[in-house]
Amino acid sequence: MTFKLAVFGNPIEHSLSPLIHQHFASQYGQDITYERILVEHTFAQKADEFFSSGGFGCNITVPCKLNALDYATELTPRAKIAQAVNTLKFNGFVNQKPQFLGDNTDGAGFFQDLKRLNCPLKGSNILILGAGGATRGILPNLMDYRTKVKSITVANRTTAKIRKIFENLQEQVDTGAFLELKASNYESLEPDMHFDVIINATSLSMNNELPKIPPELYSHAQFVYDLYYTKDGSTIFTNKARSLNVEHCYDGLGMLVGQAAQSYELWTGVLPDTENTINYIRSVLQQQ
Ligand code: ATR
Repeated sequence: MTFKLAVFGNPIEHSLSPLIHQHFASQYGQDITYERILVEHTFAQKADEFFSSGGFGCNITVPCKLNALDYATELTPRAKIAQAVNTLKFNGFVNQKPQFLGDNTDGAGFFQDLKRLNCPLKGSNILILGAGGATRGILPNLMDYRTKVKSITVANRTTAKIRKIFENLQEQVDTGAFLELKASNYESLEPDMHFDVIINATSLSMNNELPKIPPELYSHAQFVYDLYYTKDGSTIFTNKARSLNVEHCYDGLGMLVGQAAQSYELWTGVLPDTENTINYIRSVLQQQ
């Protein structure tokens, strides 16, 4: 069987998804086609065209993830929690109407990458910077009682945004009784606080800017992760952490490949190992 796949978004011409999925398919001896589809007007119309011409599954990126949520006829539990869909799968017909399963693989892809990198999670104190869509996406797996994290502090310019995210997720995620959730602004982060893991989920690295946190926080951390990715694997944030002797510093390319791997599993039943594909995509980026 050939899986006909695609990614929808705007802009879309630089999407790495076709390369990532082709690399997975070649590793597992599967046959896929994977195209980029620019959504200039309505997502639903483009998606209808794709699925009626034999499309089996697609990824959805900015700005169409809410349109894809509406398009899905059924949602996975993690898509319900995220209230955004980045993956659709054709699910046959009911009363001659096509059915589409909507999923959100961002959080699981991030979590898969943390596990690949042996991030210390059990018993750890985690600091997440930023409270946008990216933070919402990565929180459920970290908050889940099975992950055994001790505390999660989210820092943002406005704490109201954090509280809203916590309230919403606490209704849907089984956090267990002992997880401490804290909302903070940047000014309240003190140099003597200890976080084992610091995750930058702000958009600051994109503009080569650093979050305003005390430098001591880096020095105390064992593991630092920036959701932003670059050609060489270092961002202004990971460089800062490295200069303050954090041993394990990573950019977000592994998360990008991880979320793709989770989508690939939904479509084909195979969860790809991401290591080779991350190396391959890094080498492609370096040639660009
Ligand atoms: P995404 O959905 O990808 O997470 P976003 O919703 O634009 O993107 O969120 C980006 C995050 O970066 C937000 O938490 C934002 O902080 P605010 O919630 O206070 O807006 C954060 N961010 C962007 N610019 C920032 C800056 N100059 N200083 C601190 N945080 C910043």
